[in-house]
Amino acid sequence: MGDAELILGQVLSFTGDPLTAGPAAARVEPQGAVLLADDRIADHGTAADLRAAWPQARITDMGDCLISAGFVDAHAHYPQTGIIASWGKRLIDWLDRYTFPEEMRFGDPEHAAAVASRYLDLLLNHGTTTVASYCSTHPASVDAFFAAARARGMRVVAGKTCMDRNAPEGLCDTATRAHDESAALIARWHGQGRATYAITPRFAPTSTPEQLEALGALWAAHPTCLMQTHLGEQTEEIEWVRALYPQARDYLDVYERAGLTGPGAVFGHAIHLTGRERQHLRDSGSSLVHCPTSNTFIGSGLFDMAGLADEGQRIGLATDTGGGSSFSMLRTMAAAYEVAQLRGQALHPAALWWLATAGAARALRLEDRIGNIATGMEADLIAVNLAATPAIAQRSARAEDMWEALFPTIMMGDDRAIAGVWVNGLRR
Ligand code: GUN
Ligand code: ZN
Repeated sequence: MGDAELILGQVLSFTGDPLTAGPAAARVEPQGAVLLADDRIADHGTAADLRAAWPQARITDMGDCLISAGFVDAHAHYPQTGIIASWGKRLIDWLDRYTFPEEMRFGDPEHAAAVASRYLDLLLNHGTTTVASYCSTHPASVDAFFAAARARGMRVVAGKTCMDRNAPEGLCDTATRAHDESAALIARWHGQGRATYAITPRFAPTSTPEQLEALGALWAAHPTCLMQTHLGEQTEEIEWVRALYPQARDYLDVYERAGLTGPGAVFGHAIHLTGRERQHLRDSGSSLVHCPTSNTFIGSGLFDMAGLADEGQRIGLATDTGGGSSFSMLRTMAAAYEVAQLRGQALHPAALWWLATAGAARALRLEDRIGNIATGMEADLIAVNLAATPAIAQRSARAEDMWEALFPTIMMGDDRAIAGVWVNGLRR
């Protein structure tokens, strides 16, 4: 083992899913250590044991920091970086007024490259080491994103957003172009280094049935790709889908008929669902992604975390930047907690942290590689200062256990709490 690094701190790992199994599925080793060798986690345990076992390793002592897997953001739109926190609209008007004009600018490869770099640097500063991002309709926006991620060593998921109606002409492709341009991008990027391609119809209203069919066929031909889209976000959107697809039994059925449900399908929002939709989501092995800052910011509704978790859905957490109002998965966990409170559900800190790491990785079918501290996993880690601001420090100082010490950082923390970031084994 060449240049191994031993990181010391309070090490958080998961042996199961605290959302359904309870907080005992999370473990904190208070005087713990994680050994990184090359791009992998080579060992973890107590600091004393690992120091004895690996005397040659270079020591990085993070003091009382929490050492965790890096955050995984399971749904975001990097082209919307510059319009985050835009005022006063609900989904459909927000798309027309802010989003589509901004996404038009990504036909310029230099602009796309500049925003992709800025966005990924913002994410790393916030402790997010993996993101699943939509790009714009322009293939160059996908090249820019994957190239910026490769330059940073980041594992990312991304795809060209496909739209062939109900969007400005400059952002529309066709069924054939969506298929062919996505296929070329799959050949160029999918499985190269740490890149995963996601076939990305934006949502049912901006695709014709022909486009969804073409993308369903493409996915069938490339089943190791993911498929990401939006589902059941706002009531007006659902009415619109009903009018556009009168034959469909419900919103999900539009995707189901096109072959766009199943393992590796990732549905953003999934707030307003029928019983049939919930059943098919679960039975098909599809994933749901909760985007709480977006759902409150655009006024979409309250995700049923406890109900969906209890029925065995595969759920991850995400910012949905720039419908979401933050780049921070800490802020996103806080919003998930608040949304659950409004539904009478109290999410434990262990469940929140799991949703932002291992749960989001599982939603993206990457749980065997990222999202947890375990031997053999890829070395994407963060060190989190649990007393990063005076306001947080005065609260965590009187905590009686680990979760009470962590919860103020979940509720009040931001990028100032991120004391260290390791991507693919290298400190940033
Ligand atoms: N539905 C379709 N497109 C979008 C988008 O860009 N953001 C959100 N929040 N919902 C969408
Ligand atoms: Zn979205």
